[in-house]
Amino acid sequence: MRILVTGGCGYIGSHTAVELLNAGYEVVIVDNFYNSQPNVVDKIKTITQKDFAFYEEDCCDEKAMRKIFSEQKIDAVIHFAGYKAVGESVEKPLAYYRNNIDSTLVLLSVMKEFGCRKFVFSSSATVYGDPASLPIKEDFPLSTTNPYGTTKLFIERILTDIAYAEKDLSVALLRYFNPIGAHESALLGESPNDIPNNLMPYIMKVATKQLPILNIFGDDYDTPDGTGVRDYIHVVDLALGHIKALEKLEHETGVLIYNLGTGKGYSVLDLVKTCERVNHVEVPYQIVGRRPGDIAACYADPTKAKEELGWTAEKGIEEMCRDSYNFVIKNI
Ligand code: UD1
Repeated sequence: MRILVTGGCGYIGSHTAVELLNAGYEVVIVDNFYNSQPNVVDKIKTITQKDFAFYEEDCCDEKAMRKIFSEQKIDAVIHFAGYKAVGESVEKPLAYYRNNIDSTLVLLSVMKEFGCRKFVFSSSATVYGDPASLPIKEDFPLSTTNPYGTTKLFIERILTDIAYAEKDLSVALLRYFNPIGAHESALLGESPNDIPNNLMPYIMKVATKQLPILNIFGDDYDTPDGTGVRDYIHVVDLALGHIKALEKLEHETGVLIYNLGTGKGYSVLDLVKTCERVNHVEVPYQIVGRRPGDIAACYADPTKAKEELGWTAEKGIEEMCRDSYNFVIKNI
């Protein structure tokens, strides 16, 4: 099977490309390097010792997508490419709607033209908004609080409508919790160019003294230590979830929805302390006000993915913290 991985040089896309190649799939990557580095192509080849086709193109460019599909016999698409910064999406909603939704529509129309009928979408637990209870199950009500999250929710709805109309289409909506960690080779990981928005990249900048102090956004939440609780998942476990979803799509049509999380919640302070302990570093922090739009706690009920896909996250929080740090110190 040949899989088109859009955004395959990005953080989650690159780890998934590695696991696909390791599992014996043929891979075609398309990436425009908007938020990724060209050297990731060679790093994936180094890790896997396998070759694959790469296209530097924008997924909104229909002509370019058509060229890829005419040159490669694509059996399934895993769509990672997209803008993902929450704050920026509030400033530039038009850019977010254009890019994230257009790219998906272009891919779906080209897939239809070329008879490619399997689509795995990179969704997010952000579609659950502020959940009424925990852990979060797939049938919880959906809502969003920012344009980034709304693009994910709209795309889920678009895919659901198209799968209803086109009965031969198979779609997996994978709702990620909080991916952290890096490849054990330390060749792939998350390396934001600017000041990071997300917690783990920020902790890493502080641990390596590139930034002086971590701001913890609130210690007065209704959680065990007052700081926000999230379901952190190792990016390699997350990548493996995509392989399981693809296997499932071989035999099913319609829309399948899965939470990809560990089911365990850790607080901001848990993560800071674990990073300090396992990496023998200091992460100075100060408590500041809550970040607008943040929720107290969010973690998955991963039972459906376990029962239907045979997938569970294996790697623990210590390994996540170690792998994140190893990647960062080797790539400063
Ligand atoms: C954020 C996004 C979410 C997106 C996800 C993945 C917001 C409100 N939500 O989720 O839509 O899908 O990233 O990219 O941005 N924290 C600090 N200090 C920091 C950074 C974070 O204390 O410098 C805290 C947060 O308050 C939160 C936890 O760390 O309690 C995790 O934050 P983050 O990594 O940004 O993830 P989410 O907020 O879960």
